[in-house]
Amino acid sequence: MAKAAWVTGGAGGIGAAVARRLAAQDYRVLVTDVDEDGGAAVAEEIGGVFRRCDVTVPDDSLSAVSAAVSEFGGLDLAFLNAGVATRFGLEEGFSPEAYRKVMAINLDGVVYGVHAALPALKARGGGNIVATASLAGLTAVPFDPIYGANKAAVVGLVRALGPVYAESGIRVNALCPSFAETAIISTVRDALIGAGVPLLEVSDVVAAFDAILAGQGTGEAWFVQVGRAPEPFAFRNVPGPRTGAGDKAPSADTSVQAAFQEG
Ligand SMILES: NC(=O)c1ccc[n+]([C@@H]2O[C@H](COP(=O)([O-])OP(=O)(O)OC[C@H]3O[C@@H](n4cnc5c(N)ncnc54)[C@H](O)[C@@H]3O)[C@@H](O)[C@H]2O)c1
Repeated sequence: MAKAAWVTGGAGGIGAAVARRLAAQDYRVLVTDVDEDGGAAVAEEIGGVFRRCDVTVPDDSLSAVSAAVSEFGGLDLAFLNAGVATRFGLEEGFSPEAYRKVMAINLDGVVYGVHAALPALKARGGGNIVATASLAGLTAVPFDPIYGANKAAVVGLVRALGPVYAESGIRVNALCPSFAETAIISTVRDALIGAGVPLLEVSDVVAAFDAILAGQGTGEAWFVQVGRAPEPFAFRNVPGPRTGAGDKAPSADTSVQAAFQEG
């Protein structure tokens, strides 16, 4: 039976390119987006199926997974990729509504997507979840702090989920590109080029997505930089506690102990 994939934010940019790549690898692809015309066009082009899914609405993600299961017989891969730029800080242009909206798309959307996909992936005996974070989730981005915060949260989520689902055969990883040639950078593209910032081609991001799938790891955040092979970012362990009692964290839960004793 052909493998089945669900792509959020699949109407354009990275999502559409990955949807095309998956279809070329014989995946059946459920393309979802709030852009119905764009998403339907991509689905038609690749012989996939389109459903409208606003990732901020938990039921939309549940319905998308149900559609994948009914159309394709199951789900093997969820590419949780929908996202928006922020472009405001905590002073001018800030409003709680605008803040909640970008957090809902960039962070809640991934949480709801993972929640919706897990039962179907478990039913298949394993699979892959890849969330599109950003290089902004791995480094400080003073020019876009809220984007940096929600992308760092996606990285933290993926790192935490990786070990939890390893025994179920579900790998959970994050794709962390630098600036790439898609619509999301349209308003800053000229400034980036003027500042000498090299831009990734979308094909570079697709190659990194391929490398994640070809790997064995889980809980990893793969950076994608111009001119470099993509790799999982090597996080430095946090120094462990010094308790004066053999430096053991006072917990009976070994996984909690491990997390706080590394390094
Ligand atoms: N292009 C870059 O420079 C870059 C760099 C790092 C990370 N990213 C991330 O890559 C992902 C894909 O972005 P892209 O660069 O392809 O840009 P894009 O604007 O081409 O694609 C984003 C897609 O998400 C969809 N979307 C927006 N809100 C949605 C919602 N509520 N529900 C469902 N879909 C929604 C849009 O309609 C669009 O099709 C995003 O998560 C983005 O943050 C992009």
